[in-house]
Parts: sequence; structure tokens; C-alpha cells
Amino acid sequence: MDTYLETERLTLRRFTAGDADLLIELDSDPAVMRYLTGGAPTAPEVVRGRYLPNILANYEKWGGDLGLFAAEEKDGGAFIGWFILRPEPEGPLDEVELGYRLRQAAWGKGYATEGSRALLGKAFTELGVRRVRAETMTVNRGSRNVMEKLAMTFAGNIPTPPGMEAVEGSEHGGVRYEITKEQWERR
Ligand SMILES: CC(C)(COP(=O)(O)OP(=O)(O)OC[C@H]1O[C@@H](n2cnc3c(N)ncnc32)[C@H](O)[C@@H]1OP(=O)(O)O)[C@@H](O)C(=O)NCCC(=O)NCCS
Repeated sequence: MDTYLETERLTLRRFTAGDADLLIELDSDPAVMRYLTGGAPTAPEVVRGRYLPNILANYEKWGGDLGLFAAEEKDGGAFIGWFILRPEPEGPLDEVELGYRLRQAAWGKGYATEGSRALLGKAFTELGVRRVRAETMTVNRGSRNVMEKLAMTFAGNIPTPPGMEAVEGSEHGGVRYEITKEQWERR
């Protein structure tokens, strides 16, 4: 399996057509989905019919180095979740969004910070990225803490995305964090 990125404890790789069950299992945990859907799982047929085909198509579209990447523990190879680096739809490839979704068993070990930090490094030194942003719900403290640990800067409040009005805490809207290449170099 081709490695996309290695950290101290993790290997990131591209997803393949055989990975639907990993994504289905990840999205079936209500705790993982708490601030994304309010806890509802993603239907397996949606993962198979739409999510995974889009993930694979986007590697082609974005040149192979942007997209959604499966993260595995180096020690034992367990799938722990995914990280994403992606441009806006039809946006420039040098401005990307960072995201992460990890299995509950992997929380609290510094993995989100470790994987994200390595992705920022790759984005700014190898991929020609100039700005990385990240968004989450205002009340998603864990996700915000990751952004803050990455030395990303609070860049403002954003409205709750359409369809997420029923999610706990959505009345507080969302937050956006950013880091530019210059800020990353001075961190
Ligand atoms: C949010 C998430 C990625 C955090 O992953 P993680 O690997 O546990 O994060 P880290 O261990 O790197 O933690 C980074 C910091 O945030 C803190 N933190 C993590 N989760 C937290 C939580 N739920 N509440 C408060 N602080 C939290 C950690 O303690 C750590 O700070 P510290 O080093 O000072 O102790 C993980 O909980 C997750 O995947 N959740 C479900 C999906 C999701 O909400 N994704 C983000 C959507 S925008």
C-alpha cells in the first residue's frame, strides 16, 4: 500500500475501492458523529455509492496529493480514522481545508494533532499550499483544541452549515481557523 505520509506513530495512505467498511464503521459511532449529524450514522449505501467513489475521483481531480487519507497505527496497522486536505469546490489548489475524523478508540492520544501537524508541514513545504483553514462547530472543543495546538489562528465565526441545525450546540454556529505559510514558518 502506497504511503502518503508518515508520522512518529501513524501512516497515512490513500483510500482504495475496498475500504468502504472502514468508513461505514467509523461513521456508525454516534459519538464520532455527534457534531456532524447529531449522532446519526452515514448509511452504508451512501458510503458505497457516493462517498467512496467521490474520494477516489478527487485524487484524480486534485493531482493525487490532496483529498481524504486513511490513517493507520504503525504499531499493528489498526485503522484509526481519516484526515483531509481539500480545496474548495472549484477553488485554487493552494488554499485548502484541513479536517479529521477519528475512531473513538483513538481519541485522547494526540493523534489528531500529530497527523494534522504532519499534513500542514507537507502542504506548506511540498504541495505549494499558501493557506490552510479549518472549520468546526463552536461547541466542538476537541476539534478547536487541535486547531489551537497547530498554531492556527481564530479567523471568525461562521453560520451553522445548512442541514446541521438540529445538531447539539448549532445555535452557537461554527468557527473558522486559519494558518498561512508565513505564519507556519514563524510558528
Ligand atoms: C476531535 C478529534 C479529532 C480529536 O482527536 P484526538 O486525537 O483525541 O485529539 P488530540 O489527542 O490531538 O487532542 C488535541 C488537544 O485537544 C484536547 N481534546 C481532544 N478532545 C477533546 C474533547 N472532546 N474535549 C476537550 N478537549 C479535547 C486534547 O486533550 C489535546 O489537548 P492537550 O494536549 O492539551 O491535552 C476526535 O475527537 C474526533 O475525531 N471526533 C469526532 C469527529 C469530529 O468531531 N471531527 C472534527 C469535526 S470538525
